Amino acid sequence: MSQIFPGEVFANTSDFDAGIRQLLPRYDEMLEVITRCVPSTSKNILELGCGTGELTLKILKRCPDAEIVVLDYSPRMIKFASEKVAKAGYQGRWSAKEADFGEWASHPEQFGIGSFDACISSLAIHHLTDEMKANLFIRIYESLSVGGCFWNADPTLPEAPVLGEVYKLAREEWVAQQGTTLADVRAKVGTSTTYGYSSQDQLATLEAHVQMLKTAGFTTVAVPWKYYGLAVFGGFKLS
Ligand SMILES: C[S@@+](CC[C@H](N)C(=O)[O-])C[C@H]1O[C@@H](n2cnc3c(N)ncnc32)[C@H](O)[C@@H]1O
Repeated sequence: MSQIFPGEVFANTSDFDAGIRQLLPRYDEMLEVITRCVPSTSKNILELGCGTGELTLKILKRCPDAEIVVLDYSPRMIKFASEKVAKAGYQGRWSAKEADFGEWASHPEQFGIGSFDACISSLAIHHLTDEMKANLFIRIYESLSVGGCFWNADPTLPEAPVLGEVYKLAREEWVAQQGTTLADVRAKVGTSTTYGYSSQDQLATLEAHVQMLKTAGFTTVAVPWKYYGLAVFGGFKLS
């Protein structure tokens, strides 16, 4: 199996867009929820862990005046996203930094990136330890302008072992409905060890995430979507 960075998932980047839709239930619906929660009038958006740019493209379509800055530590993912963004004609509103968002949380002064109307992320932050998730949420809060928002989609730790079994079965049934098997999809998955601040999945419960957001300063914290172990959560900076 090929060695990849945590979060790249598939050994070949070109397998990501189809493979993630087989592996995760309701991937597009989950990303659509983020795009609906970001005001369409947003001008400056930060995306953490853009991957192949699926959320990026939905946001650029939804927010016609927005410029988006993406941080991702994988040159392979950024290259793939960049080609899709250019093909869609959005290259003038998109810029990428090849960087670790854990590094941004720890040493923001080295990045020189400004204040944002919105910060978004999907399927990336769960690779950080809980301590770093909490640090990152503080950094995100500080980087938002007043009225700004943060929305994240991630897998969460099951609330009880019995629910872990329920969520696992739901995923397996989803994969079967896509006309494949978990074994077939997993055969395309690469192997990763720790890279920078990220490791293999380091899940926290939804309740723990909500608490971290409140501690970071978010006043209105919400969970606009949850499907078994996947959730979209975030909040607004109101003052
Ligand atoms: C599973 S992909 C998700 C991509 C996209 N957001 C989506 O929903 O399709 C996770 C992405 O996060 C990136 N990533 C994970 N940990 C990171 C870190 N600490 N700093 C920067 N990028 C990271 C990976 O390189 C990968 O591109």
